[in-house]
Amino acid sequence: MTTQDLIKGLNEDLAAELGTVIRYTYQAGKCFGLLGAELRDLLGKDAQDELGHAAFLTDVILDLGGEPTTTPKPFEKPTDLKAMIELNLAMEAQDVKNYLAHANLAEQLGLPELKLKLEDLAADEAGHARELRRLLKGL
Ligand SMILES: [Fe+2]
Ligand SMILES: [Fe+2]
Repeated sequence: MTTQDLIKGLNEDLAAELGTVIRYTYQAGKCFGLLGAELRDLLGKDAQDELGHAAFLTDVILDLGGEPTTTPKPFEKPTDLKAMIELNLAMEAQDVKNYLAHANLAEQLGLPELKLKLEDLAADEAGHARELRRLLKGL
């Protein structure tokens, strides 16, 4: 495992975050009516978290000597609220897995403080998933 492997992994995380900012902003616009109101609020709030994650990863990748990606990961565009939430839950769960894997990689490379921060990001994504599951229960 090398620093280049970590940079590659963090750039995949960054592409996912950029995609999530766009996906949540797009979906918030598509949340119509009373049923969509709470999801719209949640997506607007979480998009700000994801933007913060993207900014953090950009700084870390540069600090490690890498070039941060500006290309978002592509995403599906379901139209009904339940399908939107299910898609987001699956992608948040994937983000948690990826952050924990990259936290391990950071630890192996002797970067314990980065390990902690990546675990913190994993916890943020798990929190997003928890909020989404609450909304899913009401549909
Ligand atoms: Fe995120
Ligand atoms: Fe998230």
